[in-house]
Amino acid sequence: MREETRATRYALVTGGSSGIGLETARGLSSRFEVVGIVGRNAGRLEDAAKELRSGSIGRIETFQADFSALAQVQRLAWDIRNRFGRLDVLVNNAGVWHRERTVSKDGFEDTFAVNHLAHFLLTNELQDTLRASGSARVVNVSSSMHARPKSLNWDDLNFEKHWRGFWVYGHSKLANILFSNELARRWKDLGITSNALNPGNVRSNITRNNVFLNALHRSPFARMIVMSEAEGAKTSIYVATAPELEGVTGRYFDKVREAKPSRASTDEEAARRLWERSQEMIDAAIR
Ligand SMILES: NC(=O)c1ccc[n+]([C@@H]2O[C@H](COP(=O)([O-])OP(=O)(O)OC[C@H]3O[C@@H](n4cnc5c(N)ncnc54)[C@H](OP(=O)(O)O)[C@@H]3O)[C@@H](O)[C@H]2O)c1
Repeated sequence: MREETRATRYALVTGGSSGIGLETARGLSSRFEVVGIVGRNAGRLEDAAKELRSGSIGRIETFQADFSALAQVQRLAWDIRNRFGRLDVLVNNAGVWHRERTVSKDGFEDTFAVNHLAHFLLTNELQDTLRASGSARVVNVSSSMHARPKSLNWDDLNFEKHWRGFWVYGHSKLANILFSNELARRWKDLGITSNALNPGNVRSNITRNNVFLNALHRSPFARMIVMSEAEGAKTSIYVATAPELEGVTGRYFDKVREAKPSRASTDEEAARRLWERSQEMIDAAIR
Protein backbone atom coordinates (compact mmCIF):
# COMPACT_ATOMS: atom_id res chain seq x y z
CA MET A 1 0.00 0.00 0.00
CA ARG A 2 2.14 2.91 -1.32
CA GLU A 3 4.75 4.34 1.07
CA GLU A 4 2.29 4.78 3.96
CA THR A 5 1.91 2.42 6.89
CA ARG A 6 -1.22 0.31 7.23
CA ALA A 7 -2.58 2.77 9.79
CA THR A 8 -2.68 5.64 7.30
CA ARG A 9 -6.25 6.92 6.98
CA TYR A 10 -7.68 8.50 3.85
CA ALA A 11 -10.55 10.92 3.30
CA LEU A 12 -11.93 12.33 0.06
CA VAL A 13 -14.14 15.38 -0.46
CA THR A 14 -15.87 16.06 -3.78
CA GLY A 15 -16.30 19.75 -4.55
CA GLY A 16 -13.29 20.37 -2.31
CA SER A 17 -12.12 23.33 -4.40
CA SER A 18 -14.51 25.81 -2.81
CA GLY A 19 -17.15 26.61 -0.21
CA ILE A 20 -18.31 23.99 2.28
CA GLY A 21 -16.16 21.30 0.62
CA LEU A 22 -12.93 23.28 1.03
CA GLU A 23 -13.70 23.89 4.71
CA THR A 24 -14.66 20.24 5.19
CA ALA A 25 -11.29 19.21 3.72
CA ARG A 26 -9.55 21.68 6.03
CA GLY A 27 -11.32 20.15 9.04
CA LEU A 28 -10.53 16.60 7.97
CA SER A 29 -6.88 17.38 7.26
CA SER A 30 -6.11 17.55 10.98
CA ARG A 31 -7.72 14.12 11.53
CA PHE A 32 -6.64 12.09 8.48
CA GLU A 33 -3.13 11.47 7.19
CA VAL A 34 -4.23 11.93 3.58
CA VAL A 35 -7.10 14.09 2.31
CA GLY A 36 -8.05 14.18 -1.37
CA ILE A 37 -10.04 17.02 -2.88
CA VAL A 38 -11.92 16.69 -6.14
CA GLY A 39 -12.68 19.67 -8.39
CA ARG A 40 -13.38 20.29 -12.05
CA ASN A 41 -11.10 23.28 -12.59
CA ALA A 42 -7.34 22.73 -12.37
CA GLY A 43 -6.55 26.30 -11.29
CA ARG A 44 -9.18 26.46 -8.53
CA LEU A 45 -8.17 22.99 -7.35
CA GLU A 46 -4.49 23.90 -7.07
CA ASP A 47 -5.30 27.18 -5.29
CA ALA A 48 -7.41 25.25 -2.78
CA ALA A 49 -4.70 22.61 -2.28
CA LYS A 50 -2.07 25.30 -1.75
CA GLU A 51 -4.24 26.98 0.86
CA LEU A 52 -4.89 23.69 2.65
CA ARG A 53 -1.24 22.61 2.55
CA SER A 54 -0.14 25.81 4.26
CA GLY A 55 -2.10 24.90 7.39
CA SER A 56 -2.57 21.13 7.40
CA ILE A 57 -0.72 18.35 9.09
CA GLY A 58 -1.85 15.68 6.65
CA ARG A 59 -1.04 15.29 2.98
CA ILE A 60 -3.36 16.97 0.49
CA GLU A 61 -3.92 15.32 -2.90
CA THR A 62 -5.90 16.70 -5.83
CA PHE A 63 -8.14 14.93 -8.33
CA GLN A 64 -9.59 16.68 -11.35
CA ALA A 65 -12.93 15.58 -12.82
CA ASP A 66 -16.01 17.23 -14.27
CA PHE A 67 -19.09 15.56 -12.79
CA SER A 68 -21.09 16.61 -15.84
CA ALA A 69 -19.31 13.78 -17.68
CA LEU A 70 -19.82 10.31 -16.23
CA ALA A 71 -16.79 8.94 -18.10
CA GLN A 72 -14.67 11.43 -16.12
CA VAL A 73 -16.23 10.19 -12.88
CA GLN A 74 -15.33 6.64 -13.84
CA ARG A 75 -11.75 7.71 -14.57
CA LEU A 76 -11.68 9.58 -11.27
CA ALA A 77 -12.64 6.41 -9.39
CA TRP A 78 -9.88 4.51 -11.18
CA ASP A 79 -7.39 7.22 -10.20
CA ILE A 80 -8.52 7.15 -6.54
CA ARG A 81 -8.29 3.35 -6.40
CA ASN A 82 -4.72 3.55 -7.70
CA ARG A 83 -3.52 6.36 -5.47
CA PHE A 84 -5.38 5.45 -2.26
CA GLY A 85 -5.14 1.87 -1.04
CA ARG A 86 -8.24 2.41 1.08
CA LEU A 87 -10.81 5.08 1.76
CA ASP A 88 -12.08 5.76 5.28
CA VAL A 89 -14.35 8.72 4.53
CA LEU A 90 -16.02 9.78 1.29
CA VAL A 91 -17.83 13.14 1.46
CA ASN A 92 -20.19 13.46 -1.52
CA ASN A 93 -20.36 17.24 -1.43
CA ALA A 94 -20.02 18.69 -4.97
CA GLY A 95 -23.15 20.46 -6.05
CA VAL A 96 -24.51 22.85 -8.60
CA TRP A 97 -27.55 25.10 -8.93
CA HIS A 98 -28.23 26.33 -12.45
CA ARG A 99 -30.05 29.45 -13.54
CA GLU A 100 -31.36 27.80 -16.70
CA ARG A 101 -31.79 24.25 -17.90
CA THR A 102 -28.37 22.81 -18.72
CA VAL A 103 -27.62 19.43 -20.20
CA SER A 104 -24.70 17.28 -19.05
CA LYS A 105 -22.12 15.78 -21.45
CA ASP A 106 -24.17 12.56 -21.33
CA GLY A 107 -27.45 14.29 -22.21
CA PHE A 108 -28.97 14.38 -18.70
CA GLU A 109 -30.37 17.42 -16.91
CA ASP A 110 -27.16 18.73 -15.33
CA THR A 111 -28.36 19.41 -11.75
CA PHE A 112 -29.51 15.79 -11.42
CA ALA A 113 -26.38 14.55 -13.24
CA VAL A 114 -23.84 16.39 -11.06
CA ASN A 115 -25.64 16.35 -7.70
CA HIS A 116 -26.93 12.77 -7.88
CA LEU A 117 -25.82 10.56 -10.79
CA ALA A 118 -22.10 11.38 -10.54
CA HIS A 119 -22.05 10.61 -6.82
CA PHE A 120 -24.07 7.44 -7.31
CA LEU A 121 -21.48 6.24 -9.82
CA LEU A 122 -18.43 7.38 -7.83
CA THR A 123 -19.60 5.73 -4.60
CA ASN A 124 -20.38 2.43 -6.30
CA GLU A 125 -17.07 2.42 -8.15
CA LEU A 126 -15.26 2.94 -4.83
CA GLN A 127 -16.98 0.12 -2.94
CA ASP A 128 -13.85 -2.06 -2.69
CA THR A 129 -11.66 0.88 -1.63
CA LEU A 130 -14.17 1.78 1.10
CA ARG A 131 -14.41 -1.85 2.21
CA ALA A 132 -10.62 -1.93 2.57
CA SER A 133 -10.99 0.57 5.41
CA GLY A 134 -12.85 -1.89 7.64
CA SER A 135 -15.18 0.85 8.89
CA ALA A 136 -15.76 3.52 6.25
CA ARG A 137 -18.26 6.37 6.21
CA VAL A 138 -20.05 7.82 3.19
CA VAL A 139 -21.35 11.32 3.92
CA ASN A 140 -23.95 12.71 1.51
CA VAL A 141 -24.44 16.48 1.51
CA SER A 142 -28.10 17.24 0.84
CA SER A 143 -30.08 20.38 1.75
CA SER A 144 -33.23 21.47 3.54
CA MET A 145 -34.49 22.11 -0.01
CA HIS A 146 -34.94 18.32 -0.33
CA ALA A 147 -38.29 18.79 1.40
CA ARG A 148 -39.85 20.86 -1.41
CA PRO A 149 -40.74 18.06 -3.86
CA LYS A 150 -43.22 15.54 -2.51
CA SER A 151 -41.76 12.83 -4.74
CA LEU A 152 -39.25 12.35 -7.51
CA ASN A 153 -40.30 13.46 -10.98
CA TRP A 154 -40.42 9.84 -12.20
CA ASP A 155 -41.97 10.57 -15.60
CA ASP A 156 -39.37 13.18 -16.45
CA LEU A 157 -36.15 12.86 -14.40
CA ASN A 158 -34.45 15.08 -17.00
CA PHE A 159 -37.01 17.86 -16.59
CA GLU A 160 -37.52 18.28 -20.33
CA LYS A 161 -41.12 19.42 -19.92
CA HIS A 162 -41.00 21.80 -17.00
CA TRP A 163 -37.75 23.16 -15.55
CA ARG A 164 -37.51 25.50 -12.56
CA GLY A 165 -34.14 25.97 -10.84
CA PHE A 166 -35.35 25.84 -7.24
CA TRP A 167 -37.49 22.82 -7.89
CA VAL A 168 -34.89 20.86 -9.83
CA TYR A 169 -32.22 21.59 -7.21
CA GLY A 170 -34.55 20.40 -4.41
CA HIS A 171 -35.32 17.28 -6.46
CA SER A 172 -31.59 16.46 -6.72
CA LYS A 173 -31.22 16.97 -2.95
CA LEU A 174 -34.17 14.62 -2.33
CA ALA A 175 -32.34 12.10 -4.54
CA ASN A 176 -29.24 12.54 -2.30
CA ILE A 177 -31.17 11.35 0.78
CA LEU A 178 -32.97 8.52 -1.02
CA PHE A 179 -29.58 7.35 -2.33
CA SER A 180 -27.97 7.69 1.11
CA ASN A 181 -30.69 5.57 2.73
CA GLU A 182 -30.64 2.89 0.03
CA LEU A 183 -26.85 2.73 0.24
CA ALA A 184 -27.13 2.26 4.00
CA ARG A 185 -29.50 -0.68 3.45
CA ARG A 186 -27.52 -2.31 0.63
CA TRP A 187 -24.10 -1.94 2.28
CA LYS A 188 -25.03 -2.51 5.92
CA ASP A 189 -23.01 -5.74 6.14
CA LEU A 190 -19.92 -4.33 4.41
CA GLY A 191 -18.57 -2.17 7.23
CA ILE A 192 -19.60 1.01 5.39
CA THR A 193 -22.09 3.50 6.81
CA SER A 194 -24.04 6.09 4.82
CA ASN A 195 -25.65 9.22 6.22
CA ALA A 196 -27.08 12.42 4.73
CA LEU A 197 -27.10 15.98 6.01
CA ASN A 198 -28.11 19.57 5.56
CA PRO A 199 -25.19 21.96 6.16
CA GLY A 200 -27.51 24.93 6.79
CA ASN A 201 -27.79 28.18 4.88
CA VAL A 202 -24.20 28.97 3.94
CA ARG A 203 -22.55 31.85 2.09
CA SER A 204 -20.73 30.12 -0.80
CA ASN A 205 -20.40 30.07 -4.58
CA ILE A 206 -23.50 27.88 -5.08
CA THR A 207 -25.63 30.91 -5.93
CA ARG A 208 -23.09 32.39 -8.37
CA ASN A 209 -25.26 31.54 -11.41
CA ASN A 210 -28.16 33.51 -10.00
CA VAL A 211 -27.52 37.25 -9.90
CA PHE A 212 -30.45 37.94 -7.57
CA LEU A 213 -29.71 35.16 -5.08
CA ASN A 214 -25.99 35.89 -5.15
CA ALA A 215 -26.57 39.54 -4.28
CA LEU A 216 -29.05 38.53 -1.57
CA HIS A 217 -26.66 35.96 -0.07
CA ARG A 218 -23.87 38.53 0.16
CA SER A 219 -25.94 41.48 1.33
CA PRO A 220 -25.26 42.96 4.80
CA PHE A 221 -28.68 41.64 5.90
CA ALA A 222 -27.96 38.08 4.73
CA ARG A 223 -24.65 38.10 6.58
CA MET A 224 -26.66 38.09 9.81
CA ILE A 225 -28.57 34.90 8.94
CA VAL A 226 -26.24 33.06 6.55
CA MET A 227 -23.41 30.99 7.98
CA SER A 228 -19.75 31.15 7.02
CA GLU A 229 -18.37 28.27 4.95
CA ALA A 230 -16.43 27.01 8.00
CA GLU A 231 -19.65 26.93 10.06
CA GLY A 232 -21.38 25.18 7.18
CA ALA A 233 -18.71 22.46 7.11
CA LYS A 234 -19.27 21.50 10.75
CA THR A 235 -22.07 18.99 10.11
CA SER A 236 -20.07 17.19 7.39
CA ILE A 237 -17.02 16.98 9.65
CA TYR A 238 -19.18 15.76 12.54
CA VAL A 239 -20.88 13.03 10.51
CA ALA A 240 -17.52 12.01 9.02
CA THR A 241 -15.62 11.77 12.30
CA ALA A 242 -17.74 11.73 15.49
CA PRO A 243 -16.83 8.59 17.52
CA GLU A 244 -20.43 8.28 18.73
CA LEU A 245 -21.57 7.83 15.11
CA GLU A 246 -19.44 4.71 14.60
CA GLY A 247 -21.76 2.14 12.97
CA VAL A 248 -24.65 4.65 12.72
CA THR A 249 -26.17 4.46 9.23
CA GLY A 250 -29.20 5.59 7.22
CA ARG A 251 -29.73 8.75 9.27
CA TYR A 252 -30.09 12.45 8.47
CA PHE A 253 -28.34 15.31 10.25
CA ASP A 254 -29.01 19.02 10.33
CA LYS A 255 -26.68 21.53 11.95
CA VAL A 256 -24.61 18.99 13.86
CA ARG A 257 -27.46 16.92 15.24
CA GLU A 258 -29.73 14.15 14.05
CA ALA A 259 -32.94 15.42 12.47
CA LYS A 260 -36.04 14.18 10.70
CA PRO A 261 -35.96 14.52 6.91
CA SER A 262 -39.08 14.83 4.75
CA ARG A 263 -41.47 11.91 4.48
CA ALA A 264 -40.70 11.57 0.73
CA SER A 265 -37.01 11.07 1.48
CA THR A 266 -37.67 8.05 3.70
CA ASP A 267 -39.81 6.21 1.11
CA GLU A 268 -38.01 2.86 0.73
CA GLU A 269 -39.74 1.93 -2.51
CA ALA A 270 -38.74 5.26 -4.07
CA ALA A 271 -35.15 4.74 -2.91
CA ARG A 272 -34.99 1.27 -4.48
CA ARG A 273 -36.55 2.58 -7.70
CA LEU A 274 -34.13 5.52 -7.86
CA TRP A 275 -31.19 3.12 -7.48
CA GLU A 276 -32.39 1.03 -10.41
CA ARG A 277 -33.21 4.02 -12.64
CA SER A 278 -29.82 5.62 -11.86
CA GLN A 279 -28.05 2.40 -12.79
CA GLU A 280 -30.00 2.22 -16.07
CA MET A 281 -29.19 5.84 -16.92
CA ILE A 282 -25.49 5.29 -16.23
CA ASP A 283 -25.39 2.03 -18.18
CA ALA A 284 -26.98 3.78 -21.15
CA ALA A 285 -24.43 6.60 -20.98
CA ILE A 286 -21.10 4.89 -20.43
CA ARG A 287 -21.18 1.13 -20.56
N1 LIG B 1 -24.51 27.01 0.42
C1 LIG B 1 -25.63 26.59 0.99
O1 LIG B 1 -26.40 27.39 1.58
C2 LIG B 1 -26.02 25.14 0.92
C3 LIG B 1 -27.19 24.75 1.60
C4 LIG B 1 -27.55 23.42 1.56
C5 LIG B 1 -26.77 22.50 0.88
N2 LIG B 1 -25.65 22.90 0.22
C6 LIG B 1 -24.87 21.87 -0.50
O2 LIG B 1 -23.52 21.95 -0.09
C7 LIG B 1 -22.68 21.42 -1.13
C8 LIG B 1 -21.51 22.34 -1.37
O3 LIG B 1 -22.02 23.57 -1.90
P1 LIG B 1 -21.39 25.00 -1.58
O4 LIG B 1 -22.47 25.83 -1.01
O5 LIG B 1 -20.10 24.88 -0.87
O6 LIG B 1 -21.18 25.54 -3.09
P2 LIG B 1 -19.87 25.95 -3.91
O7 LIG B 1 -19.04 26.91 -3.14
O8 LIG B 1 -20.38 26.37 -5.24
O9 LIG B 1 -19.08 24.58 -4.04
C9 LIG B 1 -19.54 23.56 -4.88
C10 LIG B 1 -18.40 22.64 -5.23
O10 LIG B 1 -18.88 21.67 -6.19
C11 LIG B 1 -18.04 21.69 -7.32
N3 LIG B 1 -18.72 21.40 -8.57
C12 LIG B 1 -19.77 22.05 -9.10
N4 LIG B 1 -20.07 21.55 -10.32
C13 LIG B 1 -19.18 20.56 -10.54
C14 LIG B 1 -18.94 19.67 -11.63
N5 LIG B 1 -19.67 19.70 -12.76
N6 LIG B 1 -17.92 18.77 -11.52
C15 LIG B 1 -17.15 18.73 -10.41
N7 LIG B 1 -17.31 19.55 -9.37
C16 LIG B 1 -18.31 20.46 -9.44
C17 LIG B 1 -17.48 23.11 -7.36
O11 LIG B 1 -16.32 23.13 -8.15
P3 LIG B 1 -15.84 24.54 -8.83
O12 LIG B 1 -14.97 25.18 -7.81
O13 LIG B 1 -15.11 24.10 -10.05
O14 LIG B 1 -17.07 25.31 -9.15
C18 LIG B 1 -17.24 23.36 -5.89
O15 LIG B 1 -16.02 22.78 -5.47
C19 LIG B 1 -23.58 21.22 -2.35
O16 LIG B 1 -23.92 19.86 -2.47
C20 LIG B 1 -24.81 22.04 -2.01
O17 LIG B 1 -25.98 21.53 -2.64
C21 LIG B 1 -25.25 24.21 0.22
